[in-house]
Amino acid sequence: MIRRRRDVRAEFTGEVVDDATLLRILDAAHRAPSVGNSQPWDFVVVRKPETLRQFAAHVAGKRREFRDSLPPERARTFEPIKIEGITESGTGIVVTHDDGRGGQHILGRASVPETGLYSTILAIQNLWLAATAEGVGVGWVSFYDTAYLTDLIALPPGVRPVAWLCTGPVHEFQQVPDLERFGWRDRRALADAVHWENYRQ
Ligand SMILES: Cc1cc2nc3c(=O)[nH]c(=O)nc-3n(C[C@H](O)[C@H](O)[C@H](O)COP(=O)(O)O)c2cc1C
Repeated sequence: MIRRRRDVRAEFTGEVVDDATLLRILDAAHRAPSVGNSQPWDFVVVRKPETLRQFAAHVAGKRREFRDSLPPERARTFEPIKIEGITESGTGIVVTHDDGRGGQHILGRASVPETGLYSTILAIQNLWLAATAEGVGVGWVSFYDTAYLTDLIALPPGVRPVAWLCTGPVHEFQQVPDLERFGWRDRRALADAVHWENYRQ
């Protein structure tokens, strides 16, 4: 499943993932490890077509902003790359993070405060792998203003969105990531990422 998993944007079938499957996927997410067992995540399932359209319009604006910030050659490479499948997937899962969950004394978070957020990210990875096993694609969208999404799904103070995950059945998983296929960036060799004893080795 680790090898099969892909970030999905263009391969959604248009069917909506059924609730039983969705809940199995969310159950896998909810079994993630977390610092101090704080479980700082929540999952907001968004399916109303009007909300999906509103969010897609916001993301399209952020995509334009990014494209306009690129040098011409990079902008040309970026142009054909699809960066979301918000309406086609039929379901958005917004994974949120509550740093206040579990109170002040989180066992293991005192020295590295980011471990709270790391925990929520692990829930996302569980979700992504479980979805892959179910034949359900997930596409992570991060082209949004946090304040906009917070407002759109009525998050309370202290709870922030971490990811919008386009989630839906797919007709296939690409074998090569889109960003490699479109010449944006290649996967690094494992040998370049592994260091023995210290970083400079
Ligand atoms: C934190 C994070 C944010 C991402 N945001 C986006 C995004 O906004 N749009 C997009 O198309 N892909 C997004 N991706 C997907 C990456 O582009 C993708 O994971 C990467 O190119 C490797 O492809 P693969 O996941 O298919 O292996 C995001 C991935 C991560 C982990």
